[in-house]
Amino acid sequence: DQSNLAYSVGITLDRFIKLKQSDFPFASGELSQLLRDIALAAKIVNRETNRAGLANIGGAFGQTNVQGEEQQKLDVIANIRFMRALSKGGEVCAIVSEEEDAVIDLKNNSGKYVVAIDPLDGSSNIDVNISIGTIFSIYRRKTPVGSPITEADIMQPGNQQVAAGYVLYGSSTMLVYTTGCGINGFTYENSLGEFFLSHPDMKAPEDGKIYSINEGLEQEWEPAIAAYVRQCKAEKLQSRYIGSLVADFHRNLLKGGIYLYPATQKNPSGKLRLLYEANALALLIEQAGGTATDGHRRILDIQPESLHQRTPLIIGSRNMVEQVKGLIQSTP
Ligand code: AHG
Ligand code: MN
Ligand code: MN
Ligand code: MN
Repeated sequence: DQSNLAYSVGITLDRFIKLKQSDFPFASGELSQLLRDIALAAKIVNRETNRAGLANIGGAFGQTNVQGEEQQKLDVIANIRFMRALSKGGEVCAIVSEEEDAVIDLKNNSGKYVVAIDPLDGSSNIDVNISIGTIFSIYRRKTPVGSPITEADIMQPGNQQVAAGYVLYGSSTMLVYTTGCGINGFTYENSLGEFFLSHPDMKAPEDGKIYSINEGLEQEWEPAIAAYVRQCKAEKLQSRYIGSLVADFHRNLLKGGIYLYPATQKNPSGKLRLLYEANALALLIEQAGGTATDGHRRILDIQPESLHQRTPLIIGSRNMVEQVKGLIQSTP
């Protein structure tokens, strides 16, 4: 089984990152260090997540974030943990976070990297003990190292990501990431405190049997989305929707499927955020052979205009996503 395989192969995340670094002969090791910093913060958040029910860190924090969402205590805790890891490490000059209104300028002009992060994804599922996640994107700054950061460093399209990944705090905790040469998944072994390579070179099946969408919003969809979902039902596909993007994405990546969070009447740009939700998953799915679109454009080619910008997201197995694109583009 997967975990025995992980032990017998015995490749820890640290070792894997080091092995990969030698693929880039002139790499200075800073990106590797940054990935290790993120993994460490993920371990800490994993620990907090596991004890959330006992330690009185469940429930609402009592404030709303810039999106008007009610912050959960764990949203705030995860944000603090990742902020700390990213700012202490020294590789990062600026951070965009779901839980921070503005860009966090670390005033670390020697930092080469910009990180966009959803510290805790699926926060409505915390209190009911269902899988949650973390999503991250890493960019190289555009302005020269040593100078102050500018808008050009922050507002980069997803096709400029140098690495991206997610952590899934699920029945097992996993970290899945890419540096642009395929995607690899690591499973956390609690007693050893290590992530082990368990899912090398993951591939998204070209087709799938699962569709994932919040069907309660059906009356607000555009006709093409409704037509696609009717078709899924006619073909008796499986409907699966957790309400944690990371968990829904991960399942569909492994099994084959499509995830849709389309535009709705209330949210004409959908709900999910381009910079710290859609872009990372779009890079991962493309690296695994799948597709990510807003219905008209490749997610990775969208030029961001604001920090917390939303985008419709249709992502997953290539043939399924192509079918939806076809319907959208042929429906007046
Ligand atoms: P977050 O918890 O980071 O704010 O993200 C919530 C997102 C995502 O995780 C999930 O897939 C989606 O919201 C669910 O939205 P609906 O409840 O509208 O289906
Ligand atoms: Mn939120
Ligand atoms: Mn989220
Ligand atoms: Mn979040």
